[in-house]
Amino acid sequence: PQAVKTKIKYLEKYRGQRVRISGWVHRLRSQGKMIFVVLRDGTGFLQVIIGGKLSQVHDASLLTNEATIEVVGNLQEVPAEKSAPGGHEVVADYWKVIGHAPLGDDSYLSRFNEETGPSILADLRHLVLRGETQSAVLKLRTALLSSFRHALDALDLKEVTPPCIVQTQVEGGATLFGFKYYEEEAYLTQSSQLYLETVLPALGDVYCVQESFRAEKSQTRRHLSEFTHLEAELAFITFDDLMTHIENAICDTIDHLLATPGVSELMKVLNPDFKPPSRPFLRMSYADAIQWLVDHKIQHVTEETEDLPDAEKVYVDHVLGDDIAEAAERKMTDEIGRPIFLYGFPSHLKAFYMQKMKGPAGEGPNGMVFTESCDLLMPGVGEVVGGSMRIHDADELLAAFKKQGIPAEPYYWYVDQRRYGTCEHGGYGLGVERFLAWIGNRYTVRECQLYGRWPGRATP
Ligand code: 4AD
Ligand code: MG
Repeated sequence: PQAVKTKIKYLEKYRGQRVRISGWVHRLRSQGKMIFVVLRDGTGFLQVIIGGKLSQVHDASLLTNEATIEVVGNLQEVPAEKSAPGGHEVVADYWKVIGHAPLGDDSYLSRFNEETGPSILADLRHLVLRGETQSAVLKLRTALLSSFRHALDALDLKEVTPPCIVQTQVEGGATLFGFKYYEEEAYLTQSSQLYLETVLPALGDVYCVQESFRAEKSQTRRHLSEFTHLEAELAFITFDDLMTHIENAICDTIDHLLATPGVSELMKVLNPDFKPPSRPFLRMSYADAIQWLVDHKIQHVTEETEDLPDAEKVYVDHVLGDDIAEAAERKMTDEIGRPIFLYGFPSHLKAFYMQKMKGPAGEGPNGMVFTESCDLLMPGVGEVVGGSMRIHDADELLAAFKKQGIPAEPYYWYVDQRRYGTCEHGGYGLGVERFLAWIGNRYTVRECQLYGRWPGRATP
């Protein structure tokens, strides 16, 4: 009979029929005159049995992991206790090699084992991502991106595509990647926020999913030089509206993600104990967080001893005005064990554009100013979202540029957003790799990108 050509994920409806499947040899085992192959086609895994004369042909002796083959045969149900993927297997009556893969010492694959170091794994990322765990992470990433879009579309935000080539900074000059743009100086974007703000009067609430670039000097497990940045901007809102929106966007995304076909299988592999967070998230002011750190004896290294060997580092208590560094933030989030909204950071720790908190809440000791800013922290990862209300008065914005020593001219279009019909508005940026590291229980964001970029790494 004619064979049905299909993909592995659709096989169930063809049980008992003759099927034609192509894919990569994921696993290979020979037993007497039988060859057992687990075939992978990106949509799933399939057990294939090649027996009798078919296992004696010349190609069979050259068959290796990662070769591509085409198989035709009957699709048979397999008893549950034999745990074949999908509960079925193909008994081949015809097969052929489409593309061979290197054998033995010629093969990188023979060099992979438990001890393979991270730098070799990064060099061989193009092969590593064929593995079960890494491909599951990437599949979860695909489902996550479409769930974000689903959730934000349903909240009535419009997706736009801001430029990556820009001539203004957003999050501080220290992490800018500059390059020669024809005869001028330009940067790779750190954040699309400023552009999203300018779109509000044209399209209303907006979002984008865009690469952002940061020349991060330090090697950490949550910093990349290029990351996928989900950013949104909303008009005519209050700070409280903003935090509620972030909660809703995240919870709706997770609901959609977990309901996506195939995702429960991925979560079983990556993070079987995952529980969706409940609303509302814990909200804690920056000042309360500093007190919490003091109460829990979580200290930080002094700036002067930061670069000294561990034994010579000096630790001190946090005081109001201190930055909450990665280590302290992580300890706090892990201890509390659920998402935390930290809000009201002092202006000197944050970017130029942040709106001051209203009334006495905005005034700190010694002229310190608290802002309508919030970071969402997740257990195991720390900061996943950073957001704020934006200064919406043109003169106040110009004063803020001046205070931070940023020349205002290149931002004429950003200032105009305040001049031509301003409004209270705010938004946020979510690091997709950090979010994925949280949902997929990954140790580092480096495995949450297709090809991660960090200092010293731009290949493959
Ligand atoms: O907190 P950040 O720097 O905020 C902004 O860029 C705002 N302009 C966003 C906005 O309001 N539209 O970055 C936002 C998020 C962080 O919370 C983090 O998840 C992620 O982006 N992020 C990084 N992820 C990986 N590697 C890096 N180097 C990152 N820097 C920021
Ligand atoms: Mg931040």
